[in-house]
Amino acid sequence: MLAAVGSAVGLGNIWKFPYLAGANGGGAFVLVYLLCVAVVGIPLLIAEVLIGRHGRLSPVNSLARLARKAHASHLWPLAGAVGMVAGLIILSFYSVIGGWALAYVVRTASGLFVDVTAEGAANIFQGLIRDPERLLAWHTLFILMTALVAVRGVRSGLEQAVRLLVPALIILLLVVVGYNLNSGHFMQALDFLFRPDFDRFGANGALQALGHAFFTLSLGMGAMLIYGSYLPAAAPIPRMALAVALLDTLIAMLAGLAIFPLVFANDLAPGSGPGLLFTTLPVAFGHMPGGTYVGTLFFLLLVLAAWTSAISLLEPLVAWLVENLRLQRSRSVTLAAFLAWLLGLVSLLSFSRWAFSFRFGGQVRHNGWFDALDVLTSGIMLPAVGLAIALFGGWVLPRRITAGELGNGPVGHLWRLAIRYLVPLAIATVFLGMTGVI
Ligand code: PFF
Repeated sequence: MLAAVGSAVGLGNIWKFPYLAGANGGGAFVLVYLLCVAVVGIPLLIAEVLIGRHGRLSPVNSLARLARKAHASHLWPLAGAVGMVAGLIILSFYSVIGGWALAYVVRTASGLFVDVTAEGAANIFQGLIRDPERLLAWHTLFILMTALVAVRGVRSGLEQAVRLLVPALIILLLVVVGYNLNSGHFMQALDFLFRPDFDRFGANGALQALGHAFFTLSLGMGAMLIYGSYLPAAAPIPRMALAVALLDTLIAMLAGLAIFPLVFANDLAPGSGPGLLFTTLPVAFGHMPGGTYVGTLFFLLLVLAAWTSAISLLEPLVAWLVENLRLQRSRSVTLAAFLAWLLGLVSLLSFSRWAFSFRFGGQVRHNGWFDALDVLTSGIMLPAVGLAIALFGGWVLPRRITAGELGNGPVGHLWRLAIRYLVPLAIATVFLGMTGVI
């Protein structure tokens, strides 16, 4: 379970959630996102862990084994394969942002942000993301860190790290939230984040909220499925899924309350995009007492959170390479990490030489390939795989298997109702909304 928390809690909560909420108007996005976590995310998390625990193999092979057992189509494992590719793509840009976080550890520790203005922080950020060589060094370091742990086969170190990481992260976020309480803009941030205004919220916002529920809970690409395959038979899956989702959501909400009062206090645009975290928090660290220490520790923890997530992004592909190509674990990790590193170059250059804008779902995206890969994974691949997993878990897996894993009590019944009807309906509605059918 600690590994699952490590996978879920990451850049998605602290970096991505705030900028998505900002770009999609605040409250309405947050409400739909919370709904998606509760209605789609938790049942799917249970389904993935359950399938993994029963299949005991990598996502593709677990699905194949269970499909055979249920005398179902041999196409089901395709969902695992699509998820595996999505994981590789996500890791490629995740590592670039992990690199930003690494760079910010050094920048904060060196005192660069002492007394910084919002404009100064924005300039420092632009200086970093427009410098491909520097980004390349950090991206490479982040991938190497991830590969190193993956080669050694996760487990105990990862669990110890998560035990320390989560409380420390919550405390540091609370420090920034506490600092913001006096800024005079806290209420404005609360209002922005929690008062839904559906006037400017449409299908595209709903798709991003749904996609982010997948991203933040590490669903739709097999990470939770594979952690389920390592889970002891007696562990209570629903209770663990609930705990993972609650902790994950708590951290995202705290990140929002850490960032948005600073946005309003400094007259910044909530919808400024992926740089939001990196242009707001340094201003707080630059002015609070002991800010250099607090800030350095914060970015260190952010790196650690990103690291424990990145490991889980690599795991399904690595396990598949070991099982199907009979590669050694170290070779599999090297191959998968190299592919992610290479593809990462595309995102890395999206902020400078290869920058371009495009329109998707009525919204302009400014960060070229980086945004395109995000739309492809969070907006399309993860929800599509999620839909397949829901149909597989709800309609294909024999009841004796799911009841054997979850018991015959009310929780099992509730899960079955959700996974058969609610989850497919919710995902289909959002997809159809995007196509303009409804
Ligand atoms: N859940 C991670 C985050 O919120 O940062 C990102 C992630 C990790 C997505 C693992 C998908 C995944 F399989």
